[in-house]
Amino acid sequence: YRIGSVHVGLKKQHIDQLIGKLRITFLGFVSAVIILFFIISHLLSKYITRPITELTKVSDEISHGNFDIMHTLSYDIKSWDHNEGVKDEVQQLSNSFMNMTNRIMDSQAKLKESENKYRSLFTGGPNPIFVLARETLGILSANPSAEETYGYTKEELIGKIFTDLGSFELDEIQQVDFQDQNSGKITSIGSKIQCHKKGGELLYVNVHACPVRYQDMDAVIIATTDITKMVEKDNQLIQASKMTTLGEMSAGIAHELNQPLNAIKMGNEFIDMMIEKKKKIPDKDLLQIVKEVSSQVDRAVDIIRRLRDFGRKADFTKEKVNINKPVQDVLDIIGRQLRLQNIDIQLNIDENIPHILAHRNRIEQVIFNLITNGRDAINQKSEEAGGSNAKNRILIETHALDDQVMLTVSDTGIGMDTILKERIFEAFFTTKKMGEGMGLGLSITNGIVEDYGGKINIESFEGQGTSFCLSFPAVI
Ligand SMILES: Nc1ncnc2c1ncn2[C@@H]1O[C@H](COP(=O)(O)OP(=O)(O)O)[C@@H](O)[C@H]1O
Ligand SMILES: [Mg+2]
Repeated sequence: YRIGSVHVGLKKQHIDQLIGKLRITFLGFVSAVIILFFIISHLLSKYITRPITELTKVSDEISHGNFDIMHTLSYDIKSWDHNEGVKDEVQQLSNSFMNMTNRIMDSQAKLKESENKYRSLFTGGPNPIFVLARETLGILSANPSAEETYGYTKEELIGKIFTDLGSFELDEIQQVDFQDQNSGKITSIGSKIQCHKKGGELLYVNVHACPVRYQDMDAVIIATTDITKMVEKDNQLIQASKMTTLGEMSAGIAHELNQPLNAIKMGNEFIDMMIEKKKKIPDKDLLQIVKEVSSQVDRAVDIIRRLRDFGRKADFTKEKVNINKPVQDVLDIIGRQLRLQNIDIQLNIDENIPHILAHRNRIEQVIFNLITNGRDAINQKSEEAGGSNAKNRILIETHALDDQVMLTVSDTGIGMDTILKERIFEAFFTTKKMGEGMGLGLSITNGIVEDYGGKINIESFEGQGTSFCLSFPAVI
């Protein structure tokens, strides 16, 4: 049966409308979520990257040396601090960046301060200072005191070779220890070195050197001390003491001069007697007398020449000296006197001794000082022993040892204890009575020996004697 038909259906249009609405809502929701997501991620990334961008900018500025930018940075960093209150990585990074920059600024300030300090030492210091290239020894820089002392302007000095200014040993400057460049080790490379100013005037200096890096090369800082005045005073003192020595020597000299004068007188008296007796002198005898007189006059002239040489002011150029010569000269003058005082003089001379660089008459002064000290020590010993007639001697030896020339003066005198030995080189130190000793002998001796690069070694035993051993570098 077919009662009827029910038609069931939905209106498609209605469904379509419903679907459309749903789609729009869904799409709207999705877009809203996406937009929100973008907004949040944008905010988040801005929060993270902004400080980093800021830091990058600031560090870029700082790497170009602009430290003023720091002010802006510190402001920003403070504001981040307040905003978040959380110690995140970015903040830590910026904090350590701040610290680092502060450190750099700090050390830059210190560097500047120390540089200023050294600069003022260089420019304002009283001593001439030069900076030399290590290889060529060309002057790279010089301070105002160098200009003033040497009489050249800085422009004239720069480019000059340092060794042109004086008699410096080239190698010595170049051998300055460059291994230890940071130790700031200062080496003395010469004392009493002769230099000349611009006009040729002489100047004496002590020289010290220190290796440095200067404008990216190995350089040497040379500091010189002008000691011309001191050298002049020293020379005056040496000269004065030489005069005292001459005074002491005069007795010996008078004795020496008496000999040839006596011989001449004897020859003269013989001729006189023959004339009186109206006798004819045989030509042979007359010739002999004339020759003898002439040789005695030579002898006297020689003694006087030696005396004059000794008193002469030494000039400063050193000469090659055979040390045996001054030993002989001094003994010629005082040897006889010593023998008269019952002092035996023993000589042990090396005939083939190398030369030394010195002044003959200053070495004579040294030997004279040592011998007279020995004599005094011997006399003092016999005085204390109540004038006993013990065997007294002064032994003078010369010999070569390696590259040294040795001169030893030993006596059998009173000797010294260790306390006395410490003080004998002091100027005006003497144990002798007023008028017998000035206390200058050994201090001057020491100065002279040092001038020639020598050394003094003393051995002394109380009551037995003393030995002064001098060594000088030999000239090869
Ligand atoms: N050969 C020596 N033996 C003992 N003492 C010495 C000797 N040489 C020097 N002296 C001591 O050193 C001192 C200083 O000597 P020196 O400088 O020559 O001055 P001076 O001879 O005028 O006293 C002497 O006073 C003496 O005490
Ligand atoms: Mg003396």
